[in-house]
Amino acid sequence: MSFISEINRRRTFGIISHPDAGKTTLTEKLLLFGGAINEAGAVKSNKIKKGATSDFMEIERQRGISVSTSVLAFEYNGIKINILDTPGHKDFAEDTFRTLTAVDSVIVVIDVAKGVEEQTEKLVEVCRMRNIPIIVFINKLDREGKDAFDLLDEIEQKLGLRVTPLSFPIGMGYDFKGIYNIWEQNINLFSGVSRKNIEDTIEVSDLASEELNTLIGETSANTLREELELVEGIYPKFNRDDYLNGDLQPVFFGSALNNFGVRELLDCFVEIAPKPRPKQSEERLVKPEEDKFTGFVFKIHANMDPNHRNRLAFIKIVSGEFRRNTPYLHVRQNKKLKFSSPNAFFAEKKEIVDISYPGDIVGLQDTGNFKIGDTLTEGEIINYKGVPSFSPEHFRYINNADPLKSKQLNKGIDQLMDEGVAQLFTLDLNGRKVIGTVGALQYEVIQYRLEHEYSAKCTYENLNVHKACWVEPEDDKNEEFNNFKRVKQRFLAKDKQNQLVFLADSAFSLQLTEQKYPSIKFHLTSEFN
Ligand code: G4P
Repeated sequence: MSFISEINRRRTFGIISHPDAGKTTLTEKLLLFGGAINEAGAVKSNKIKKGATSDFMEIERQRGISVSTSVLAFEYNGIKINILDTPGHKDFAEDTFRTLTAVDSVIVVIDVAKGVEEQTEKLVEVCRMRNIPIIVFINKLDREGKDAFDLLDEIEQKLGLRVTPLSFPIGMGYDFKGIYNIWEQNINLFSGVSRKNIEDTIEVSDLASEELNTLIGETSANTLREELELVEGIYPKFNRDDYLNGDLQPVFFGSALNNFGVRELLDCFVEIAPKPRPKQSEERLVKPEEDKFTGFVFKIHANMDPNHRNRLAFIKIVSGEFRRNTPYLHVRQNKKLKFSSPNAFFAEKKEIVDISYPGDIVGLQDTGNFKIGDTLTEGEIINYKGVPSFSPEHFRYINNADPLKSKQLNKGIDQLMDEGVAQLFTLDLNGRKVIGTVGALQYEVIQYRLEHEYSAKCTYENLNVHKACWVEPEDDKNEEFNNFKRVKQRFLAKDKQNQLVFLADSAFSLQLTEQKYPSIKFHLTSEFN
């Protein structure tokens, strides 16, 4: 197969949702359709169950599983599908944000009863910032939930999306009869005593036909006709370009658990979802079809076994072919590296591969060369943008608890930050180190790993910080900026890239500071230029 055909047949995407909406179940059903697994239950949820925040074994378990579910690749009708797993637990949201830099599109799963939840809002916001094409899957239609139109309204308002349903439910919960597929113009009926079976798909070319009455009963048929008329009147017609530009989001309804509406979603997905997209680097836009290889690290997974200290760096291939045993330039370190055993990931296994193509993810064994955001090329100096840091939610001083091991501690902190476990800020005033995390869970992870992997001990001390803001002065020599630095010195720190950060102790003080220094911009993400 030609290089171009290999690119054209790849679809790399992520499934995002609030925990419990059904992401794992949907992933599993997609893999079943692709023949990548044979039975339900094969994909382990990598989520940390509620209430497990202090159970360290649970963190270990989840870390172990998350390697095997990091990338799930399978073939479906000649299309190579790569699903990138995103942790549902909010303490790992930063991981999910980074994974979103490596996807070409996403599917958002929403629980029909719960509607739009907090985690979904945050994740969709990141997708919107990047114009990532989004398909929405409304799940659990076998249960009582919100009215379909109300839910579509809620999605538009809370997520700021412009939706167009490509399928529509016939009833819901106890009355759930099936789904009308607007995209394919047919009906799937939900049947059987346990209502777990799907009858054959029935073509319905004419909605006004008597046949529809016979299939679902006159009342339901009339309701469906009215609802579809409303859908046509209210929502924009599906247009693939708008979807690809992130301006229009198609919506599907179904029940992942009952395997209902999943095939429709998958069939439409492979037809409309984007193939690998060009990616902006600091230097230029790089197209997948270019013959020279480029790629970037979006995730690093440490091996928790102390006897096998190496890590696995996940690279998204942006352009060209990645080949085994070929020297590539590690741009940040300006050195050539060769990889003898790059891993490709399939549903239940990983394998060494000789060639990978744009859209694919390869896992490279790493002994500490990589950090998140690093670029590999055939020689060109390219730095991919866009693995941003967001303001952490929690901040603590980290102290050395064993003065004889300060070297080990510093090395450990450095490497864990490179992996993206948390963010490090160094205070301008006294050089003290502050660890910022999205969730409290990471402090435990860091302490445990420092001790077991680096033989270093640490303690934490609370620090009252509301948000970390990356500071962008209009002119870094003007009086206002100098004043700001003098007055706020106590609250200033540098991040790992040596960017200046203001640690605001409350929302109120942040607001006051913004008012007092109007020429300075305060950003909640490190990526603002
Ligand atoms: P997540 O990865 O998004 O966190 O969600 P997950 O797939 O684990 O699903 C969360 C719960 O919702 C699971 O039940 C799952 O069986 C259920 N579920 C998923 N899809 C549907 C659906 O279409 N209909 C109904 N009724 N339930 C659905 P659980 O009891 O929490 O877990 P389990 O013990 O079944 O694994």
